[in-house]
Amino acid sequence: MRIDVVTLFPEFVQQAAQVGVVGRAQSRGLLSVVTWNPRDFASDRHKTVDDRPFGGGPGMVMLVEPLRSTIRAARDAEGSAPVIYLSPQGERLTQRKVESLSKLPRFVLLCGRYEGVDERLIEECVDEELSIGDYVLSGGELAASVVIDAVGRLQDGALGDADSAKQDSFAEGLLDCPHYARPLREGDREVPEVLLSGNHALIRRWRLKQALGRTWLRRPDLLARMDLDKAARKLLEEFRQEYLADPD
Ligand code: ADE
Repeated sequence: MRIDVVTLFPEFVQQAAQVGVVGRAQSRGLLSVVTWNPRDFASDRHKTVDDRPFGGGPGMVMLVEPLRSTIRAARDAEGSAPVIYLSPQGERLTQRKVESLSKLPRFVLLCGRYEGVDERLIEECVDEELSIGDYVLSGGELAASVVIDAVGRLQDGALGDADSAKQDSFAEGLLDCPHYARPLREGDREVPEVLLSGNHALIRRWRLKQALGRTWLRRPDLLARMDLDKAARKLLEEFRQEYLADPD
């Protein structure tokens, strides 16, 4: 997969995409992150990419012309590709959206800076807007890096254990269960006995119960949207009873 990023800070985006799983995906040829700087497409001597907003107010607005040329160059570099503008006004990014993006051969991410981007550029060149959460960042670069990471790690062969993406938080709409490794005892905290049992059916059952319980405790909004089967409802009920008897 190829992700093109239109950004005034290409080094930032490239650096973030060079570490860990995503960096490895790039070096294995599973993912390629290409950056485009609108300053290189500005037509005046000063390489102007922004100006004061009509109507007044704080901050600067990114200009249509250099962004349009940059987006066209990026979008048409290899066939065509959807253009996604990262902004707090966008649809909220979810794991489901990440999964659908991860199946595309290519897309373009547009990072805004200053107060944002001239609305006419969005109307003309942007296919969709995505937000990574209900808070305001000073630019789209961190959000683009979040998208690249979440999508990059889902590329076939990016993760060591082929199954590990399926076991992610949210993969089944639930939060993740707790995980443990050595040592067996940390002060007075022990690894749950079932994990040492070697009984894989029991371990699976325990993990699902913890995932259901945590989601119930921390994100009841997620549970409310799910259609749990009878076995899952029973497990959650067990968790609730145990929790209510001993909330710690
Ligand atoms: N740019 C600024 N804030 C953002 C957010 N919350 N999500 C995506 N892009 C942004």
